[in-house]
Amino acid sequence: MPTVIEALKNRSSKRAYLPKPVPREIQEKIFNAAAMTPSGANMQPWKVLAISNVDTLTKIGDAIISKMNEGVVHDQFIQYYPVKWVNPYKKRRIVTGSGLYKLMEVDRKDDETRKQMWHDNFRWFGAQTVFFVFTDKANIDEAQGALIDCGAYMQSIMLAAQEFGIDTCPQGSTTEFGKVVAEVLETPDNLALLYSVVLGYEDKEAKINTYQPARVSLEESVTFID
Ligand SMILES: Cc1cc2nc3c(=O)[nH]c(=O)nc-3n(C[C@H](O)[C@H](O)[C@H](O)COP(=O)(O)O)c2cc1C
Repeated sequence: MPTVIEALKNRSSKRAYLPKPVPREIQEKIFNAAAMTPSGANMQPWKVLAISNVDTLTKIGDAIISKMNEGVVHDQFIQYYPVKWVNPYKKRRIVTGSGLYKLMEVDRKDDETRKQMWHDNFRWFGAQTVFFVFTDKANIDEAQGALIDCGAYMQSIMLAAQEFGIDTCPQGSTTEFGKVVAEVLETPDNLALLYSVVLGYEDKEAKINTYQPARVSLEESVTFID
């Protein structure tokens, strides 16, 4: 069994999976562990639709891709990425993106391949299980704390998954089309999609799964005051 530190260090986002759903029993174990995620006032503001139905996943993906093809940039409940990118985050985003394209030998100007790679998000990278995490709109109306809680919940899911040999990819790409997801799934009006997590068995042959973007040094992100 991996230690917590090993689980943290071994996890990385995988973007190519075998066409195999995660067994229900394992999903339940992941959720039971993730349920222990702390949240302010023990609010547990997450509400999840765990989908392993290929037709439903295809329907969601089709709806998002057709929205994108209509030229719609987003149709969302929350704005995930900064509206104005500033450094050093802007630079980190560029380095991370260009590193992936370089690994995959995709030219900087090859917009079509880049678009297809982004669309892969909505084909769930070939996986057959996706967790869609919502919260009650009332939780995020004039407050942001539930977003912190649900972010911690995301990491719990991803770390717990590893214990069962399940890999993951968190998705903000679906956040950007949260209203489309909600429409296809006919979720109650009070719910807002925050993000999704793809879960499955990584395709070990896929070059894209070897991508592990570096992290900044400790000095850049932490200041000790002893
Ligand atoms: C909230 C969140 C949203 C993300 N959205 C996407 C996404 O839509 N598509 C994708 O391929 N990766 C997505 N990622 C993965 C990040 O690109 C990745 O975590 C980062 O580059 C670090 O790489 P690693 O996860 O492999 O360590 C997301 C990560 C987070 C935490």
